[in-house]
Amino acid sequence: MGKILGIAIKNYGSLRDIKMGKLFSDRNDDELGNMVAIIGPSGNGKSTIADAFGFISDCISTDVETACDEKNRGGFDQLISQCGATEIRFEIYYKESKNSRPITYELTISKDKMDRAYVKEERLRQRRVGNSYGRPLSFLHLIDGKGYAFEGAEGGQVDDEGNETVGTKVMVELSESRTLGIVTLGVMKQYSRIEKFLSFLKSWYLCYFTPDAARQLQTASPSPYLNKTGSNINNVAQYMFRENPDEFKKILLDIQDKIPNIDRIKPEKLPNGQMVLEFFQKGFSEPFFSQRMSDGTLKLFAYYLLLHERNPRQLVFVEEPENGLYHKYLANLAVEMKRNVGKGYAKQLFVTTHSPFFVNALAPEQVWVLEKDENGFSKIKRASEYEFVSDLTSEGASMGDLWYSEYFG
Ligand SMILES: Nc1ncnc2c1ncn2[C@@H]1O[C@H](COP(=O)(O)OP(=O)(O)OP(=O)(O)O)[C@@H](O)[C@H]1O
Ligand SMILES: [Mg+2]
Repeated sequence: MGKILGIAIKNYGSLRDIKMGKLFSDRNDDELGNMVAIIGPSGNGKSTIADAFGFISDCISTDVETACDEKNRGGFDQLISQCGATEIRFEIYYKESKNSRPITYELTISKDKMDRAYVKEERLRQRRVGNSYGRPLSFLHLIDGKGYAFEGAEGGQVDDEGNETVGTKVMVELSESRTLGIVTLGVMKQYSRIEKFLSFLKSWYLCYFTPDAARQLQTASPSPYLNKTGSNINNVAQYMFRENPDEFKKILLDIQDKIPNIDRIKPEKLPNGQMVLEFFQKGFSEPFFSQRMSDGTLKLFAYYLLLHERNPRQLVFVEEPENGLYHKYLANLAVEMKRNVGKGYAKQLFVTTHSPFFVNALAPEQVWVLEKDENGFSKIKRASEYEFVSDLTSEGASMGDLWYSEYFG
């Protein structure tokens, strides 16, 4: 469980200095909601924001130097904002559940003497129980791999000099400067807060569905989660079927109603144990297998399956869900996504989109607009901050229509 209440990104490509939602260092803004849609003209930084989340994920699964090279990022020098900056910085303000105290994670990546990307600084902070103001306690602080961590669910250090500490402090020196400290320490039970935060970051899912991937022949190995491209769609269905066949049939009933031209989706178990999905299409008595379904049908199916995953990933980022989908399906998809993430701490969904049809289903606070400043760097604000937008939507106007009519964006 958990969600991010805010994020700040500095010097990551066109994101020289952006902030979304509430942060420890700037608590004036409202928290991010569970549904966050990011819009803006081409080149304004939508994919860069998605990639920043992907970069953090890659830093966890590999190391910061490898993450700089992955996904065509081109290495640290290409990645860092072209403005003479020397450090890429992230600040994530995160909360585990309604009644827990928020945690701030700060990460700075720079280059070492050998000109290689490394972790320059990492810090985790949280307020004391019962304190909603005042300086939070640092329970992890590493500079150049050296510093301290606090064991257990409480405690930390008040200031940088170590004049006041609460709880069990352990001095730490990492032998590997490119691996995140939270990755090294988060595997140890005694650092339970780091462990929880790490498992939250590990559960992020960046989705790049391609219908062709979903058409690949799949082996008979159930898998709990859809992979990035959606190529294991049948394996996920098989897993959901195995875990709870009745619930899975209900999910299929729910999904089939939302996919146009599909009457019924039926799971069919093959003699080799593999499960295939049969799609019954209007006008045909015989079913079709997923390989024969249209791109849009497969994509919609994958999105709806994603929304129904058991033990859902806590943060999902989808880039341009509208690609390849008929425009009239988008409003429904947006409504379902919004409904699915709800208001609690189970799931948070970030979406980039070019589609006013998708945005029509959203509220002004859920839409973030990217613009470029006079130096060519991205800036972002909520659609609700534009004049008239909130008033007009409360009078019944739809967000996508306002966007199309250039009230914002
Ligand atoms: N190191 C960098 N410093 C500054 N700007 C950069 C850097 N690297 C890339 N850019 C700029 O960042 C922008 C990236 O845009 P991005 O791909 O995020 O746009 P987008 O909003 O996703 O557009 P589209 O709608 O076309 O997908 C481009 O304008 C690119 O020139
Ligand atoms: Mg893009």
